[in-house]
Amino acid sequence: MAKAPFIADHPLIQHKVSMLRDVNTPSNQFRGLIKEITELLVYEATRDLPTCEVDVQTPLTIAKCRVIAGRKLAFVPILRAGLGMVDGGLELVPSARVGHIGMYRDEETLIPHPYYCKLPKDINERDVIVLDPMLATGGSAVDAIDQIKTKSPRSIKFMCIIAAPEGLKLLTEKHPDVQIYCACLDERLNENGYILPGLGDAGDRIFGTK
Ligand code: PRP
Ligand code: URA
Repeated sequence: MAKAPFIADHPLIQHKVSMLRDVNTPSNQFRGLIKEITELLVYEATRDLPTCEVDVQTPLTIAKCRVIAGRKLAFVPILRAGLGMVDGGLELVPSARVGHIGMYRDEETLIPHPYYCKLPKDINERDVIVLDPMLATGGSAVDAIDQIKTKSPRSIKFMCIIAAPEGLKLLTEKHPDVQIYCACLDERLNENGYILPGLGDAGDRIFGTK
């Protein structure tokens, strides 16, 4: 049975996504917002990490405390736009490794074209969070997760900022075991495969290439 997607309803996330959508938000502010929203989503996506008890010496006594029980994480951004989410992930989980998957969508066919894949060697011992701000048709996410699954990681989650219903449906059908986290579910795709109302081309807005 497919896992229900986590769609954020937190006011801080909603506020920041509204600023992200604004065509007048410049690249430097856009990057900062992507990082902050990613931090808030990673906070949710790591909620199920197992913990164990340890004794900690405080200035007064010994406290029974809980720490994360040695789970290893890897963030895998889909290039280019997923790169904008990496710093937010590492801010919360500095020990995580980072893999990269390069992929671009053909503007006419909307079919993803993979061009690069470099994953941590021990990915089979890691829980993976795939990062891409935009889940449009879902083709890029499905292909990236197909590639990652060939390396048998312990688990995979997919994290985006904005999802279209079309992408959510495809990703859930193709990878029902992958838990999806998104900041906002939008209305639909337009005839060019862009998310409406969306925020435009995420890669171009992060890197200022248009
Ligand atoms: C964007 C985005 C996703 C993809 C989503 O990347 O960052 O990777 O499109 O579309 P899909 O769900 O229909 O596959 P793009 O292909 O524009 O490449 P870029 O990040 O290099 O700009
Ligand atoms: N990729 C983007 O960057 N934006 C969209 O709306 C769709 C795909």
